[in-house]
Amino acid sequence: MIKLIKSTFFKESETKKNLTEFINRTKQLSFGRECVLFEKNFSGYQERKQCVLVNSGSSANLAIIMALINLGILKRGDMVGFSALTWSTNVMPLIQLGLTAVPVDVSLQTLNVHSETVHKTLKRYPLKMLFLTNLLGFCSDPDKIAEICRDNKIILIEDNCEALGSIYKGKKLGNFGLASTFSFYVGHHLSTVEGGAVLTDNYNLASMLRIVRAHGWDRNLSLARQNSIRNRFKVNSTFYSRYTFYDLGFNLRPTEIAGFLGNIQLKYLDEINQKRRDNFKRLAEYLYTNPKLYYPVKYNHLDFISNFAFPLICKSREIRDKLVAKCEKKVEIRPIVGGDITTQPFFRKYMGKISFNYSQSQARLIHEQGLYFGNNPELTGKEINTLIKIFSK
Ligand SMILES: Cc1ncc(COP(=O)(O)O)c(C=O)c1O
Repeated sequence: MIKLIKSTFFKESETKKNLTEFINRTKQLSFGRECVLFEKNFSGYQERKQCVLVNSGSSANLAIIMALINLGILKRGDMVGFSALTWSTNVMPLIQLGLTAVPVDVSLQTLNVHSETVHKTLKRYPLKMLFLTNLLGFCSDPDKIAEICRDNKIILIEDNCEALGSIYKGKKLGNFGLASTFSFYVGHHLSTVEGGAVLTDNYNLASMLRIVRAHGWDRNLSLARQNSIRNRFKVNSTFYSRYTFYDLGFNLRPTEIAGFLGNIQLKYLDEINQKRRDNFKRLAEYLYTNPKLYYPVKYNHLDFISNFAFPLICKSREIRDKLVAKCEKKVEIRPIVGGDITTQPFFRKYMGKISFNYSQSQARLIHEQGLYFGNNPELTGKEINTLIKIFSK
């Protein structure tokens, strides 16, 4: 069986050995030095000024929406566009926090939202924010999408949980908007078992994210920020200052274990991404050039494609269903991410009243005719040949 995920970490035994030693020697396992160091290292890697580490990609999505509401940038009831083909917890925080979630269809060519569809959506819905998912390491034209958002005063946030390392027109995906979110769950580009982050260049937003991450208090802010917020709220006594809660928050903190693992795995990230890119190109050469079976997914417009799974969009549902049967006990496969979110029960329950007329969408086609298998750095040449053989017929 070729599994979706082969291991918890890259260089697993070495990483586990280091982790055991770390646990034995450290005095602190709650949020501390390792987490702060990983924030510094990861923001350096992604070329962003601020990184706020949290305990999952889903928490990162929840935190950014809460922070934007706390700052008054978003207001309850505002319309927020999201990629119709994404993960559930990209959309759920919008609904949970009282926003109206508006699906924006994706393109069959790239599996991602294209600027023209953003234009069309804006004619019907006055969006305040666009939560763009960079699905499976691909993208359409995020530079143009960013331009539309700028021109229309729409906040652009990227859910980059599936595209760490992808580069478009010389710029890393995740760096096109005000902020971006990342997941470090097992099987993603970089694993800390569970983990996530929000990255931004905006210091104000990062400070609010730190308040949101931990109970609404100011303990993880810089001294200057602490002084300023304490002065504003006239909190003069040290006795109360550590227990003053300034705005709405959660507890989304990661542990030192995640920080430590992040620092180790980050050293391997380029190697991991290169291996996956090589696997991807080899598979794409054989499988995306088979027009009888599949719609090719466009990736040549990217400078670097970094993904953890290989998607196939079949020309018909029959082909897809036959492949599903063929893969049983041979290759672990699954639907494309969370599928067309508008068909999911939670979306129908809470956003069903809004009519989006989505039966003709490309997201629906990809949902009904797509599948993916894992593209992990430990795939062997033999396994790649097996995959090519299975999916070529
Ligand atoms: C696009 C996207 N957003 C958010 C998430 C949530 O990340 P996590 O599993 O770390 O909560 C995922 C998870 O796979 C995802 O694919």
